[in-house]
Amino acid sequence: MRFIYIYLAFIRFYWKATTIYHIHSPSVYAFLEQTWLIKSDDIQLRKIEDQRKTLQQNTKEITIQDHGAGSRSKPIKKRKISAIAKTALSKKKQCNHLFQIVKFINANQILEFGTSLGISTAYLAAANHKAEITTIDGDPNIQSIATTMFEHLSLNNIQSICSTFDNILNEPIIQETKWDIIYLDGNHTYEATTRYFRSLAKTIKEKAIIIVDDIYWSKEMTRAWNEIKNENEFSISIDFFYYGVLLFIPEQQENKIDLSIIEYKYKPWKAGFFQ
Ligand SMILES: C[S@@+](CC[C@H](N)C(=O)[O-])C[C@H]1O[C@@H](n2cnc3c(N)ncnc32)[C@H](O)[C@@H]1O
Repeated sequence: MRFIYIYLAFIRFYWKATTIYHIHSPSVYAFLEQTWLIKSDDIQLRKIEDQRKTLQQNTKEITIQDHGAGSRSKPIKKRKISAIAKTALSKKKQCNHLFQIVKFINANQILEFGTSLGISTAYLAAANHKAEITTIDGDPNIQSIATTMFEHLSLNNIQSICSTFDNILNEPIIQETKWDIIYLDGNHTYEATTRYFRSLAKTIKEKAIIIVDDIYWSKEMTRAWNEIKNENEFSISIDFFYYGVLLFIPEQQENKIDLSIIEYKYKPWKAGFFQ
C-alpha cells in the first residue's frame, strides 16, 4: 500500500514541480544554483563513495534495534550490512546536496538525527572540517560501524552519540547549541517528526536550514511536512520529493515561498528556452 501512496504522490509532485529556470526569487535561485546544481568533485567524496560500495558488499549480518517508524512490527531484527547500505542511506545526489548546503551557509554547528552507517554524516563533515557535526542514532551496532568509518576517513569533526532521539532531545547538548543545519532522517512518523521539528526549530540560528528526509515515505510523513513547512512565516520551503528543505533567511524579507523542484531534464519544456 505504501508503494501505491508513493507512486501517486510522485505523480502529484511531478505535476506541481517547476525547474530552476522558472524561479523568480533571487534568494531561492541563488540557493539552488549554489547547492543543487553544483556537481561536487572532491577526492574526499570519492573516498566516502568507496566506503558506501564496501558497505554494500558486506554480507555480514548484524542485530539491529528499530527505534523508528517500523519498530511497532519487529523492534529487534537481523539484517545484512549490505541490505542497510543499499536501502537506508541517502543517495549520492542527495549527499552532494547536503555537502553543498554546508558550504552555502558556512555551517559550523550541524545536527543529524539518524546516522545509520554514517554516509550522509561523512558528507556533512567533509564539507567543512572546522564544523562540528553531532549525529545521533539509537542502534549501537550500526553506530559502531559508522564510527569506524569516520576514523578510517580521518573525519575528526564528528561527535557520534548512541541514543534514542527522544532521550536526547531535551538534553543541553541539543537544546543549548545554536544549530546552522539540522538534518532529520529517522523515525518517520507524523507524531515524532512534528515534535522533533517544533523542539529543534527553537534551537536554530537566525539564518539556518532544516532538512527533512523521506517526506513522501508515507501519508503521515507528508502530513508532517505540510504542517511544519507552514509554521514559520519567513521560511522558504523546497520540496525535492525525496526530502524537503526549509530555509530561514531573515534578511531576504520576502513572503513565504513554497515550491517543488525537479531537474529540467524531466520537464524539458520548462528549461527556460520558451520564457
Ligand atoms: C534512514 S537511516 C539514516 C540514514 C543516514 N542519515 C544516511 O543518509 O546515511 C535512519 C536511522 O535512524 C535511526 N533511528 C530511527 N528512529 C530512531 C529513534 N527514535 N532514535 C534513535 N535513532 C533512530 C535508525 O537506527 C537508523 O539508523
